[in-house]
Amino acid sequence: MNFKDKTILISGASRGIGKAAAIAFASKGAKVGINYRTQTIEAKKTLKELQGSGHQLFKRDISKKDEAKALITDFLQHYGKIDILVNNAGIAIPHKIEDVSFDAWSSAWETTLQTNLLAAANLSFLASQAMINSGGGHIVNVSSRGAFRGEPDQPAYGASKAGLNAMSQSLAKKLAPFKIYVGVVAPGFTETDMATETLSTSEQQKMLKELPLRRMAKPEEVAHAILFLASDEAAYSTGAIIDVNGASYLRS
Ligand SMILES: NC(=O)c1ccc[n+]([C@@H]2O[C@H](COP(=O)([O-])OP(=O)(O)OC[C@H]3O[C@@H](n4cnc5c(N)ncnc54)[C@H](OP(=O)(O)O)[C@@H]3O)[C@@H](O)[C@H]2O)c1
Repeated sequence: MNFKDKTILISGASRGIGKAAAIAFASKGAKVGINYRTQTIEAKKTLKELQGSGHQLFKRDISKKDEAKALITDFLQHYGKIDILVNNAGIAIPHKIEDVSFDAWSSAWETTLQTNLLAAANLSFLASQAMINSGGGHIVNVSSRGAFRGEPDQPAYGASKAGLNAMSQSLAKKLAPFKIYVGVVAPGFTETDMATETLSTSEQQKMLKELPLRRMAKPEEVAHAILFLASDEAAYSTGAIIDVNGASYLRS
């Protein structure tokens, strides 16, 4: 896979899976735009780790419609084109139905859907306008195994990722005539802050015993699938959802 001089915007690339994807794209010649929300120190560290030149930080809270728009405007002003959009930024807020107040419940739903689904919809709309003008592109959306197996303690998260899958497949059909290819990567537990922050140590130990490989995915293993779907070779895989969950949840 060769991404020489491709311009790539990755949401939520200061840490975790987005960071691993940024490193992998840069190692293959791409110019990477790293979006993040708050953690400038982490984002600067990530920027320093990228091979090659022409990479750039874009601090924007994409859950806010105006900031999502400004992100695409800034990116296009800087690079002149967008070849690949990776909608990776995501949050998981525990909201056990038996424990939380109604306000906490509805706030968790709103924040989760705004970040995990609506931001991806807005960025996909804005990026695809530019891609149509430049003759095509790729959109890769980072979903989750939770879309399929259910998320009992954070149902908004599962719903946001199921919505992301449905949106991706609708857009794959709609945008194919414009040579815009849309794919999804659906990871299981991955070694990032998200997995460690949402599970207690005892929950992590229990989870590891239940995984067929007895370990979480490495962010680089998820990044590998993202790069595949973003590659020119994957055009005919448009609409695909690739599981990266170590056989922990098998769907038919
Ligand atoms: N880790 C897992 O076990 C797992 C499993 C399945 C799916 N996933 C999915 O994989 C994706 C990446 O997860 P991860 O584990 O790498 O997460 P992570 O380590 O928690 O990192 C999240 C990244 O998203 C950014 N972000 C969050 N909200 C944002 C917003 N409103 N605007 C801009 N950036 C925002 C963060 O920026 P700051 O650094 O500035 O906060 C950070 O760069 C998510 O979509 C997640 O749902 C993860």
